Amino acid sequence: MNLYKKCMGKILVTGGAGYIGSHMVFLLMEKGIKKEDIIVLDNLSEGGNRRFLPAEIIFVEGDLLNREKVREVFDRYDIDVVFHFAGNAYVRESMEFPGKYFYNNVCGSINLLEMMKEKNVKKIIFSSSCATYGIPATIPIEENCCQKPINPYGESKLMIEKILKWYNKIYKINYVLLRYFNVGGVSFGLGENHNPETHIIPLIIKLILEDKEIKIFGKDYDTVDGTCVRDFIHVSDLVDAHFRALKFLEEGGSSDSFNLGTNKGNSLLELVKIVEEVSGKKARIVFKEGNAGDPPVLLATFRKAENLLRWKPLRDIHDIIKSAYDGEIRNEKQG
Ligand SMILES: NC(=O)c1ccc[n+]([C@@H]2O[C@H](COP(=O)([O-])OP(=O)(O)OC[C@H]3O[C@@H](n4cnc5c(N)ncnc54)[C@H](O)[C@@H]3O)[C@@H](O)[C@H]2O)c1
Repeated sequence: MNLYKKCMGKILVTGGAGYIGSHMVFLLMEKGIKKEDIIVLDNLSEGGNRRFLPAEIIFVEGDLLNREKVREVFDRYDIDVVFHFAGNAYVRESMEFPGKYFYNNVCGSINLLEMMKEKNVKKIIFSSSCATYGIPATIPIEENCCQKPINPYGESKLMIEKILKWYNKIYKINYVLLRYFNVGGVSFGLGENHNPETHIIPLIIKLILEDKEIKIFGKDYDTVDGTCVRDFIHVSDLVDAHFRALKFLEEGGSSDSFNLGTNKGNSLLELVKIVEEVSGKKARIVFKEGNAGDPPVLLATFRKAENLLRWKPLRDIHDIIKSAYDGEIRNEKQG
């Protein structure tokens, strides 16, 4: 793979010990990037685990909020591009502790961008979220849909998007903003390890394996079976889009934002049914009152990513759930 002919320096992956970041590291290696050209900066605070990464990788345990630590990384390594995954990502927690989200996500990103400015690093690929859209007026959601977050997590991501736009305008730092929908599945023998686990697929898997009740909030939405419908994207497809986003920037593409979803929805009950099939176990479902503010259906169009990044999702919900289930079983065996 000759994409990096032009890439003289190293690749910094912030949050690279986390769920998605660690998949990115493995994808970069699969694409032929040398281990010594990949630097992971992670404070191992949320889900991040050193054991998710190859032993030989350059790993810096450090906090983006510590500007001196960030400076150390940029002083020591000749960084050419940044994949910025680090951040807090629990929607519910953000409603309880908004300050934590604004401080860590926004201030951490500013420290990173300031250092990029100082060291003349011109390319960043940022993990944004469908949470920046809030409750969309139209489905499927297009990138130019109005962004009105309904929680501090989504707001913090939107703030970073705006900050990036200014750093682009003023300092010519080029960015790709990737707005993920619901990411699931595992590959490269990795796992998903959030504590507490709030992501619906690993949660359903854990509850079924432990023979515990699965609470489903709301059964009267205007959907196929009354439960919410969401757009799930396989983490392998997601990190592949990041690689293509880098290629896009390398080839002179201008800074832009892209949805990463599949435009196919699955209801919560459909997810449970697939986990039942994969595990051979029966779920115990309890319905609870839904959140009035929850949109019944959230789907993304990925047409823009298809046109400009030449990307499209290749895996479906069965691939997502089967790989997540196998990952969970593997995790249990490893203790
Ligand atoms: N998983 C999803 O479905 C999803 C959806 C939309 C957006 N995102 C975004 O993608 C990114 C990665 O998500 P994930 O699911 O892999 O989360 P994760 O919690 O597994 O990974 C985030 C990593 O960032 C690290 N981190 C947090 N704050 C840090 C700081 N100040 N300095 C250094 N490291 C720090 C954590 O230790 C962790 O390893 C996040 O920014 C998240 O908001 C995820």
